[in-house]
Amino acid sequence: MSPPMKAFIMFVILVLGVRNKCSASRAIRKRPILGRSLIASASKSSNPYGGNSNVVDVTTLGAKGDGVTDDTQAFQAAWKAACVLDSATLHIPAGYRFLVGPLTFSGPCNSNILLKVDGTVIAPINPKAWASKPLNWINISKLNGITILGRGTFDGQGAAWWKLSQSYYKYSSKGGSTLPSVRPTALRFYGSYDVSVQGITIQNSPQCHLKFDSCTFVTVANVTISSPANSPNTDGIHLQNSEDVEIHHTSMACGDDCVSIQTGCSGIRVHNINCGPGHGISIGGLGKDGTKACVSNVSVYDSNIHDASNGVRIKTWQGGIGQVKRVSFSNIQVSNVRVPIDIDQFYCDKKSCPNQTSGVYISDVTYEKITGTYVQNPVYIACSENVPCTNLKLINIQLQPAVANGVDPFCSNNYGEQQSSVECLQPRRPLNDPSHTQSPAEQC
Ligand SMILES: *[C@@H]1O[C@H](CO)[C@@H](O)[C@H](O)[C@H]1NC(C)=O
Ligand SMILES: *[C@@H]1O[C@H](CO)[C@@H](O)[C@H](O)[C@H]1NC(C)=O
Ligand SMILES: *[C@@H]1O[C@H](CO)[C@@H](O)[C@H](O)[C@H]1NC(C)=O
Ligand SMILES: *[C@@H]1O[C@H](CO)[C@@H](O)[C@H](O)[C@H]1NC(C)=O
Repeated sequence: MSPPMKAFIMFVILVLGVRNKCSASRAIRKRPILGRSLIASASKSSNPYGGNSNVVDVTTLGAKGDGVTDDTQAFQAAWKAACVLDSATLHIPAGYRFLVGPLTFSGPCNSNILLKVDGTVIAPINPKAWASKPLNWINISKLNGITILGRGTFDGQGAAWWKLSQSYYKYSSKGGSTLPSVRPTALRFYGSYDVSVQGITIQNSPQCHLKFDSCTFVTVANVTISSPANSPNTDGIHLQNSEDVEIHHTSMACGDDCVSIQTGCSGIRVHNINCGPGHGISIGGLGKDGTKACVSNVSVYDSNIHDASNGVRIKTWQGGIGQVKRVSFSNIQVSNVRVPIDIDQFYCDKKSCPNQTSGVYISDVTYEKITGTYVQNPVYIACSENVPCTNLKLINIQLQPAVANGVDPFCSNNYGEQQSSVECLQPRRPLNDPSHTQSPAEQC
């Protein structure tokens, strides 16, 4: 098959794959085996910029990497060149600081692309560079086979945005003298298939550090994410409408969720991660403004969460519909975490939000071997009367107060089994319980 034909077929598969996240009946796909060698080897195509090789180095396209010159155009030109090569490597070499403004690396490209990042890439803090109000600093989209690998760093220089108070945020369209009120995500992948991010550091993003939207077969490994605990809304990794995602051996310190799992996600594995400071690992907030949310098959295991407001959390808004099901959290060590185990079906960003009859249904959630210290409640499971949480399991939970005034678990409207000294769940719901007449499960 010719590469353009292959790319076209993969793109069709991708589009079909991401079209309907909530449909239960999908064909099972297998992860493709990557046959790519990381070191560029001889290739039939010749690179018009760098000789007979499939490596495009940003410096050969004019990038200065002095931390002052705007290298955006050179980076875009390098992408354009790499995109048409066979087995291309786009190299961002070590020993440089490349200042680049908002960028789009978009496909489809001729083949898988390796983005080898060894140097440092920094975002501008000059408001003029953000005048187009982009939602992302680096927008990577519509690719089939993209790997980011290396020891390099993406630095969003977010402090310039964090320090702005909400009132000062107002964007001045005249001179562009202040930064836009919507803070960009540092690296965002959209509509891509077979994505891998390894080794790099992403730090000080204005907002979320690494986002995957509508992606399938994603691996994040050996990545470091870092921003201060008090930087607002700086999620580590944010997933939405994405499937078959594995995040492992990754360290995240930030001012919001280390990993945030949103609607349309399924087949998510998170393990061997180190989270903190931050807000822990979260599914949700789901079902805001009456929307439908579907999340299934999530497992988080063999991880460490410290100095965080939450450990493992599921949060849903009143009034939403849909379901969260088949979730497991196991072998998680917590230390100095305000609430290690948290389900909140009354999630609200104001003082109070009205209660409603519908809610995102939460079922089949297992907590096993969650150990360590908490600051406020060891367990907080607040489910609603209309849509209670069912088939929860608490097994071998060993949580001690980090401070003298730890309080008891808070538990309401939840059913399941427990083999643990922490008591929270009621046994199976009586069959005449009115909530049995609802079948929210069918909504996903
Ligand atoms: C990202 O790039 C794609 C492809 O060029 C474009 O369609 C999309 O609008 C961009 N999105 C954002 C949020 O910048
Ligand atoms: C992880 O990344 C670091 C720095 O980027 C590198 O030195 C190390 O070899 C990587 N380890 C693995 C197991 O890939
Ligand atoms: C979720 O896991 C179940 C049980 O292992 C499996 O039958 C189902 O196909 C998975 N669903 C998705 C959407 O991955
Ligand atoms: C909603 O219901 C919960 C649980 O019954 C209750 O604690 C809370 O006060 C209610 N909220 C409002 C705004 O009525």
